Amino acid sequence: MGRKSAKGKEKKLKRKEETAKMKLSLVKVDNCNKMEDPLAPFVVFKKFDRNGLVAKIECKRVGDLDKQTIDWAFELTKTNMKDLYAQSEWGWKDREKKDEMIEHKAWYLVARDNDDKPIAFVHFRFDMEFDEEVLYLYEIQLVPEIRKKGLGKFLVLTLELMANKYDMRKVMLTSFKHNKEGFDFFKALKYDVDEISPEARVFEEGYDYIIMSKLTKFGKEQKAKEDAMNELEENNQEIKEQVTS
Ligand SMILES: CC(C)(COP(=O)(O)OP(=O)(O)OC[C@H]1O[C@@H](n2cnc3c(N)ncnc32)[C@H](O)[C@@H]1OP(=O)(O)O)[C@@H](O)C(=O)NCCC(=O)NCCS
Repeated sequence: MGRKSAKGKEKKLKRKEETAKMKLSLVKVDNCNKMEDPLAPFVVFKKFDRNGLVAKIECKRVGDLDKQTIDWAFELTKTNMKDLYAQSEWGWKDREKKDEMIEHKAWYLVARDNDDKPIAFVHFRFDMEFDEEVLYLYEIQLVPEIRKKGLGKFLVLTLELMANKYDMRKVMLTSFKHNKEGFDFFKALKYDVDEISPEARVFEEGYDYIIMSKLTKFGKEQKAKEDAMNELEENNQEIKEQVTS
């Protein structure tokens, strides 16, 4: 039956590598989701004390949050976001938002004041986005009275620390384009349009959301490696074409 071509072998090898990489990413995400408290190594990030605002921050799986806090988080989201959703093609649907917020993979950072009253939260997940392990920020909501004091930035930095520590590739989020406050906030924190965002594709128009992301240290290293490999492959291809022509 002759010998398999080098090209066939190369392809098979690449497929094997991709499968192995995918398995590793899935294991990583799985391990993150098995953690008791992903914030445990960052003790100083359990307290915020700046610009006259003091808050303590806890990190919990949705299943470990009390019903009162979950209900409060939902109502705050509804107050802050209902109109913005209503202006989009998604519309606001109580049931859908509730289901999303209590999905078993959901993790929460909850900030509370000195009286233990919740004042801000982040809903995030360790998850796969296509074939990449990411920390996905689903929601960040602050009560109006405590905004512009640095707590929002502090909470996002906390997510970035965790994403770095647990070797996720990036922190990702979806923002409405018409949520100027949210969009400008993430821009100020150096989030860019992600390659999978409809915005990133030239002929896609009419989307009212944008996907933004920021690479972790691990993500940057992986991207540099992949870019180098792609360049090498392109060069090899060019050489082959020159030889055969
Ligand atoms: C968006 C939100 C989370 C920001 O939190 P915050 O605590 O008010 O923001 P911070 O004080 O931490 O600001 C961090 C940085 O973002 C900038 N920023 C914050 N809000 C901004 C705004 N509306 N426009 C421009 N820049 C803004 C700040 O200037 C600051 O930059 P600096 O570090 O260079 O000074 C908060 O306003 C909120 O909960 N909004 C309602 C819900 C929402 O829209 N969530 C986002 C969904 S995508």
